[in-house]
Amino acid sequence: MLSGKNVVVGVTGGIAVYKACDVVNRIKKMGANVKVIMTKSACEFVTPMTFQTLSNNFVTTDMFEEPKTWDVEHIEIAKMADLFLIVPATANIIGKVANGIADDMLSTTVMATKSPVVFAPAMNTNMYENEIVQNNIKRLKKYGYRFIDPSSGLLACGDIGVGKLADVDEIVDYVENFFDEQDVKDLNGINILITAGPTIESIDPVRYITNRSSGKMGYAIAKSAVERGANVTLISGKTNLPIPKKLSKFINIESAEDLYNAVTKEFENNQVVIQSAAVADYKPKEYSDKKIKKKNDDLEIKLSRNKDIALELGKIKGDKVLIGFAAETNDVLENATKKIEKKNLDFIVANDLTKEGAGFASDTNIVKFIYPNGDIRELPKMEKSEVGNHILDDIKVIIENK
Ligand code: PMT
Repeated sequence: MLSGKNVVVGVTGGIAVYKACDVVNRIKKMGANVKVIMTKSACEFVTPMTFQTLSNNFVTTDMFEEPKTWDVEHIEIAKMADLFLIVPATANIIGKVANGIADDMLSTTVMATKSPVVFAPAMNTNMYENEIVQNNIKRLKKYGYRFIDPSSGLLACGDIGVGKLADVDEIVDYVENFFDEQDVKDLNGINILITAGPTIESIDPVRYITNRSSGKMGYAIAKSAVERGANVTLISGKTNLPIPKKLSKFINIESAEDLYNAVTKEFENNQVVIQSAAVADYKPKEYSDKKIKKKNDDLEIKLSRNKDIALELGKIKGDKVLIGFAAETNDVLENATKKIEKKNLDFIVANDLTKEGAGFASDTNIVKFIYPNGDIRELPKMEKSEVGNHILDDIKVIIENK
């Protein structure tokens, strides 16, 4: 995730501008604050309004325009950048910066910034291979400017060769890795097992019982833990989410029984277990291997108890750290507190499902951490990734004090 990171994106005039829209969209969605500067030629390809909408920030195009948020705008933008990305970078901007020319908003801001600057060139093959351009690139590299090299292929002008803007995935990965390398790896070497998402209890080949868990909470914790250097095993019920990158292991499960089997298998290898999955307490007593036919009278389905996985882990806890979640609609504190002792947890994260922005499917959560000694830590509404980081901060303290 890129939350709290300021990325300035300089957009220069080339057909690959449309791909820069995707880059801005993706890094914004990853949590970065994205500020776009467009050159006059870039505005011939795409309007500033497109980048304004995607970045949710004013787009700067003109050096002498009335500043919207800053006093000396190019200096302020230059200072705010944690990373300066120029995509696509034309031969013109490469040439200008390489030769100290600062004659418009973008070149002036690049000249004034102390942040790392990354060029993603895109141009016709003959232009890219031109000795002057190549010398400018060499010169910039010598000064510490970075490059995401263009790829080869069929160019918009019809030529085949080098000069195609690097893949959007490659550019986004570059940005993510850049910040990743800077992040503190305070959970380095710690093995964490995380459960996420819903379970599915089949009635027949067509129907099943499930719940409203989207997996967002567990996936957010997994991502944060990976970013902080932990070795993460994620066991997940069915979700529509992309599998987080750089996990040590990802295991897909369907039923509570599958989850129990997977968790008990992985338990030994992990020091910490965070149980955010919404596990069905009951399953149909009998599974019909043929579709149950409709009749005129009511249908009764008998349910039998599933194993309480957290409770089973609590019995064999040893020196592991066990964190549970409690999804409640009433008597939140009372109900959650009972679960800490019963399941032998280090703390429980209680979410009140009746609050807007808490619990199932939202990107945010409103939680209380409840500890075995009765202490309560109440957090305001925040992104699930932030909740994840608070959980990990507490786990770190527990491990350090063990
Ligand atoms: O996935 P999202 O849409 O982001 O939603 C997140 C969430 C609301 C699912 C999550 O924040 C949450 O609260 N997860 C736990 C939901 C739940 O099942 O709570 P519970 O009170 O029923 O269970 C308490 C604890 O025991 C949980 O850690 C649960 O994983 C565990 N449990 C429950 C039943 C069972 N048979 N076995 C278990 O291990």
